[in-house]
Amino acid sequence: MKIYTDINDFVEARSKISSKVALIPTMGSLHEGHVSLIKEAKNYADLLIASLFINPKQFDSSSDFSNYPRNIKNDLEIFSKNGIDIVFAPEKSDIYPENFTSIVKIENLNEILEGSFRKGHMDGVSTIVLKLLNLSKPDYAFFGEKDFQQLKLIERMIIDLSIKTEIIPVKTVRNKNGLALSSRNSLLSKEEVILAEEIYKSLLLGIDTYKNGIYDSNQIIKNIENYLLKFPEIKIEYVSIRDKYDFIELKHIDRSFALLIAVYINEVRLIDNMICDLK
Ligand code: PAJ
Repeated sequence: MKIYTDINDFVEARSKISSKVALIPTMGSLHEGHVSLIKEAKNYADLLIASLFINPKQFDSSSDFSNYPRNIKNDLEIFSKNGIDIVFAPEKSDIYPENFTSIVKIENLNEILEGSFRKGHMDGVSTIVLKLLNLSKPDYAFFGEKDFQQLKLIERMIIDLSIKTEIIPVKTVRNKNGLALSSRNSLLSKEEVILAEEIYKSLLLGIDTYKNGIYDSNQIIKNIENYLLKFPEIKIEYVSIRDKYDFIELKHIDRSFALLIAVYINEVRLIDNMICDLK
């Protein structure tokens, strides 16, 4: 496994590769969710590039950025063990030199839900992902459904900006009690992990409500809110029901949808979603 921190060295190495290339963008602090992206990538490409860059532009507060878990030594071991060929781990100052002024804005998707509660977050994601795609020119890039709005935003950007990379979504990996794996889970105490598992249960409740014949989104959302009210340490930021494909808000469910949630467990912000396919 080769590790590049210098952008020019990385671009030069990339230019010498003629086989199919997969990119797996990450911010490190890796877990089985990231590993499932790598495993999926092996089904598509001969050469796997993983990026490791904690992107300051997608954090809306400097304390959130500085508290974000970091574990580079372990990350490199996981990449190596899982067959990554190249790690691209650039410096912040090389990705965003002093005179950097561009922002990629994917309108309609950038200021709702995640973008509304974390100002500038979505623009930070589209800007870094476009930059990573331009530098690594992958045939395929892999993104988790765990960050469903991020996935939708990137899919839109690929189409709008005629980018020649195929985006491959990967299902959310969960712990045995349903909690979606996340780098931020390492910030939770044991008691908070148990509380966080209630997020999954609340999503199941929402899907069950729908399956029991309630198609009114507000009623489903109310059910979830009432359920989580039992846990005072859980503060809901949003619960939303959106079209699975175009991410339009659904008042009445008549097609495949995503049920999305963001909560705080004390100080730790977590997101999750469940997708329901209508035949
Ligand atoms: P990060 O949170 O490190 O996630 C990297 C990729 O792993 C994302 O595509 C994310 O959706 C996926 N992922 C995270 N948890 C997962 C889980 N439990 N199951 C399946 N996939 C999971 O997302 C980012 O980094 C950044 O925003 C990035 C795209 C790298 C841009 O900076």
